[in-house]
Amino acid sequence: MKTKIFLDSGDPAETKQTLDLLGYLDGQTTNPSLIVKHPDAQARFQSGQKFSQQEILDFYKKVIQQISAIIPAGSVSVEVYADAQTTAQTMIEQAREMNQWIPNAWIKLPTTSEGLKAAHELSQEGMRLNLTLCFSQEQAAAVYAATKGAGKGDIFVSPFIGRLDDRGENGMDLIANIVKMYQAGDGHVEVLTASVRNQDHFLEALRLQTDIITAPLKAIQPWAEAGQKVPGNDYIYPKGALSSIPYQEISLDQDWSAYNIQHDLTDKGLEKFASDWNALIG
Ligand code: G3P
Repeated sequence: MKTKIFLDSGDPAETKQTLDLLGYLDGQTTNPSLIVKHPDAQARFQSGQKFSQQEILDFYKKVIQQISAIIPAGSVSVEVYADAQTTAQTMIEQAREMNQWIPNAWIKLPTTSEGLKAAHELSQEGMRLNLTLCFSQEQAAAVYAATKGAGKGDIFVSPFIGRLDDRGENGMDLIANIVKMYQAGDGHVEVLTASVRNQDHFLEALRLQTDIITAPLKAIQPWAEAGQKVPGNDYIYPKGALSSIPYQEISLDQDWSAYNIQHDLTDKGLEKFASDWNALIG
């Protein structure tokens, strides 16, 4: 099977459960909203106690170290804090710090202009990165161009399919379009299908042979229990009433800062990650 399977969760207990269920686990992705959902963070929050900035960061670090210890040969994504005001320089400082937490870190940066500036600089230092909150083919082209020269598989781009579905667009089309566009490239960016909500997302991402799928345990479980089969081209994805996202001819050879990377779902996603995180801080 070409596709690597990652768990999308901020809870190391689920890492262990998924590892037991599949017999392997290639990696795990986390984000601020997922860390906030960790049972210990929730218990503390429910009891009316908040975290200081340092405490929440220490908590994130501890969780990441626990996950890394369960899958030491896997890839573990750790996300910087970023809101609309966060500069590339601030992201770079956080990334350098988080990258020391574990030996198998991929640092998540948003696919915004500041995030791409940070990605450009950090990829040149050899840091492994995951560009998140990607909602367009043009954003994926910019990620490719900004990180040119990185080693194969050192960079991931995470298109969020469920959130496109949420507003009536067929998120799986974006995956197919990016996979097709990247065929003209050198393979240094891997397509990580994210915001997977159900079994059909999971199966279609396998059929499309995306490099990586990250999914919550509830989407991995039925696939595991059905024998971990990779669907062939006879599998028909039930797109229902979702509207198609057409393929665009976009060159991967432009200067990375020349692409139009604005997307309202990226802005909203950033806002939501930041507000979930800030709700725990007193
Ligand atoms: O992998 C990204 C994921 O955590 C976001 O998922 O369901 O909040 O759109 P969702």
